[in-house]
Amino acid sequence: MISASPRKNKSQTFVLATEVLAGCEPEKTEIIHLCDYKIEFCRHCERCHKKVLDCPIKDDVSRILQKMLGADGIILASPNYINHVTGTMKTLFDRSSHFIHCKRLLNKYVAGVVSSGSGRDASVIDYLKHYALTCGAQFVGGVSSSVPLSEEQKKQAFKLGVKLASAIKNKKIFLSQMKIIEQGKEHFRSIVIARKTDWQEEYDYWKGKKWL
Ligand SMILES: Cc1cc2nc3c(=O)[nH]c(=O)nc-3n(C[C@H](O)[C@H](O)[C@H](O)COP(=O)(O)O)c2cc1C
Repeated sequence: MISASPRKNKSQTFVLATEVLAGCEPEKTEIIHLCDYKIEFCRHCERCHKKVLDCPIKDDVSRILQKMLGADGIILASPNYINHVTGTMKTLFDRSSHFIHCKRLLNKYVAGVVSSGSGRDASVIDYLKHYALTCGAQFVGGVSSSVPLSEEQKKQAFKLGVKLASAIKNKKIFLSQMKIIEQGKEHFRSIVIARKTDWQEEYDYWKGKKWL
């Protein structure tokens, strides 16, 4: 679980996300409070495309990205900050653009969790879904609640966890999402070919996967 609130255990988003975790009864879990990690802004040097995930910024981001690569399922939990995820979560996403170029979250499942003052979180959940799909992961669903958290939404969160675990166990295919992921891959095929000499290791990654 990646939790993006600066309020850590007091975070209501985190509390809601723990219901998702309870529902999926994972064999092994790791909770990452982004506020415990040093996360700097992407500088657009493109190093991570030339040499896969080799970022010159020596902070904690590569450690988090490696954990994401090692997970079967990822719960992305963020409070709604001005109708978006928090800046910290967005900064993490910006640092993961290699995931998008090479669809590195393929065969993984993502669930989204949001809390807010208003409960008007559809755009934030949609954004989390969009991020998951562009990285190649399937999105099992999202849950959100205004604060104080409603008991009903906590139940929905638990159910989402059950759905996440079942998707992982049964390698569920969401056909309509796979179509979008395939379209995203098509889009990047031409880009990876065009940038072959600049983004050498990403090109090699595509070749290695026999996608080219
Ligand atoms: C900087 C900031 C921006 C916020 N923007 C919104 C917003 O656009 N819409 C909304 O309904 N609530 C907004 N809120 C309220 C939070 O989303 C809400 O309190 C949320 O439950 C906090 O989650 P947390 O307890 O996990 O930190 C904002 C709060 C902060 C601090």
